[in-house]
Amino acid sequence: MSTRITVPSVQGRKVRRGDVPLVMVTAYDAPGARMADAAGIDMILVGDSVAMVVLGYEDTLQVTVADMAHHTAAVARATPASLIVADMPWLSYHVSVADTVTNAASLIRAGAQAVKLEGGRKRLPMIEALVDAEIPVMGHIGLTPQSVNAMGGFKVQGRKHEAALALVEDAKALAHAGCFAIVIEGVPDEVGRMITEAIDIPTVGIGAGAGCDGQVLVFHDVLGIEERVLPKFVRRYADLGTEGVRALGAYADDVRTGRFPSAAESYSLEARTAETLGLYGTPISPV
Ligand code: KIV
Repeated sequence: MSTRITVPSVQGRKVRRGDVPLVMVTAYDAPGARMADAAGIDMILVGDSVAMVVLGYEDTLQVTVADMAHHTAAVARATPASLIVADMPWLSYHVSVADTVTNAASLIRAGAQAVKLEGGRKRLPMIEALVDAEIPVMGHIGLTPQSVNAMGGFKVQGRKHEAALALVEDAKALAHAGCFAIVIEGVPDEVGRMITEAIDIPTVGIGAGAGCDGQVLVFHDVLGIEERVLPKFVRRYADLGTEGVRALGAYADDVRTGRFPSAAESYSLEARTAETLGLYGTPISPV
């Protein structure tokens, strides 16, 4: 049995200290979690990207705590050795500190070992309360998809001097408040490096360049299942979308031409029973 990855073992990982970069991928169900686990992935993120890549929404704003708990529980039932981090959905940590802790607890009870939430210094009271309640928190700064309307689209952040420095200050504040790692999304490579150098907890980049302490990608992007959008930062390692269409087409063809199922794929009666039913030796003609 493989050893479970823990929050403390992740918290200490920095590439500048000679550690190997962390690998995180999203997963939303038990088969996905089993695949990630078998591939030796360090952390599984039950991302609110489930809204877009699984549930067909245009953004991540549509999923609730109940939705995230449902998918987290499915991932947890696969009992992966990978650390399970669940995304706190939009509005689950924006209203009050008490609501934030209760909502995070639902995700922990569903099987996550940590939660992730988006935003910089304005989230400090929520992060501190979660850490106080012994709930490990992963931060998420830069392009924060739950702010899609406020940002005016999914746009690269931190391109200007002040904005880059603000992200560094956000990261320092999040680390100080007790986050064990921070996702940096959609920032220039140089800004990813500045943030990574400024803090002692690991940074996990997505569209944030090669200078982070780890990388995260969306499951459906890595495997080529999601084909409608191809962001610049995605590298596809398979084309399961095309392969899936080919396989389903072959199945449809076999059913329509009578090649599926074969005798080997069918159950049969014992000869004696067939005989008592008057079927022995009687060819069964197709309907
Ligand atoms: O929900 C998600 O998939 C994420 C990643 C983009 C980091 O938050």
